[in-house]
Amino acid sequence: MIVVTGATGQLGHQVINHLLARVPASQIIAVDLESPKAAELAKLGVEVRFADYNKPETLMAAFAGADRVLLVSSPSGPDAARVAQHQAGIDAAMAAGVELLAYTSVTHAPTNLMGMAPVHRDTEEAIAASGVPAVILRNGWYAENHTNGIGAALQYGALLGSAGNGRMASASRADLAEAAAIILTSEGQAGKVYDLTGDTTWTLDELAAEVAAQSGKPVTYTDLPAEEYRHVLQQAGLPEHIVELIVDADVAIAKGTLDYVTSDLSTVLGRPTTPMSASVAAALQA
Ligand SMILES: NC(=O)c1ccc[n+]([C@@H]2O[C@H](COP(=O)([O-])OP(=O)(O)OC[C@H]3O[C@@H](n4cnc5c(N)ncnc54)[C@H](OP(=O)(O)O)[C@@H]3O)[C@@H](O)[C@H]2O)c1
Repeated sequence: MIVVTGATGQLGHQVINHLLARVPASQIIAVDLESPKAAELAKLGVEVRFADYNKPETLMAAFAGADRVLLVSSPSGPDAARVAQHQAGIDAAMAAGVELLAYTSVTHAPTNLMGMAPVHRDTEEAIAASGVPAVILRNGWYAENHTNGIGAALQYGALLGSAGNGRMASASRADLAEAAAIILTSEGQAGKVYDLTGDTTWTLDELAAEVAAQSGKPVTYTDLPAEEYRHVLQQAGLPEHIVELIVDADVAIAKGTLDYVTSDLSTVLGRPTTPMSASVAAALQA
């Protein structure tokens, strides 16, 4: 049995879809918080179990009978709480006696400058200390983190950010989900660490130019000081933790933290990664 947490999430749901192309639905268990979104998973024919990362006993029950587990990292909360949540997932995987725990970490985890990186470093260490057979999926920065802003950029003729000329080897969520499904259904994965970046790097300037070229509308990138960008995002009504995540990430990107390409993702996929231009096209169609 393959268990996937965060299964109603944007990554987890796509992992389930890719798993369905590889194994029978009867071998897949989708785990998430009890919410109306979970009904969509049940329609896929997979078993749905509910667990809360904050309630270790629910993870123990949800992982019972699992051979392989994909522990999707927790989306929010203070760092210490998130590490504790992940530890609960590790403990539950150990208790289930899994042959493989896969964990979604962050690209270039040992030296990544983003504020989210320490949680992933601590979790990777906890996994190593546990002794559970594990594979680390150091997921690249989602291209969608930036292509999601294309609608507003078209509206105002300006793509805003604080990433300067920082280059980023982003990957599409779809590529990362497909890679996770391939790894979860492949043999010999325990002990491996994948750094799953896109094949090429791009800047927000280049993203704006691509949006302009594909849409036929004028869009340019405007680089703002971090404080100003934070204010713009707050004015747009984004939750404070999302504002912090976006601004912190851009500042780290400006320092070059994502200017780092590996061939891991394209090797796992057996094809080139989805280029930024295709992510732009998908965002324009959405
Ligand atoms: N690589 C990147 O660029 C990047 C950027 C940001 C974050 N991340 C990390 O990557 C993860 C997956 O990304 P994503 O786009 O799929 O995120 P997402 O869409 O926010 O999905 C997160 C999933 O976690 C579930 N969840 C939330 N709180 C939970 C709890 N207490 N117990 C159990 N499940 C809980 C959510 O359930 P509900 O839908 O019911 O709330 C959802 O299914 C994120 O959680 C985050 O750790 C990566």
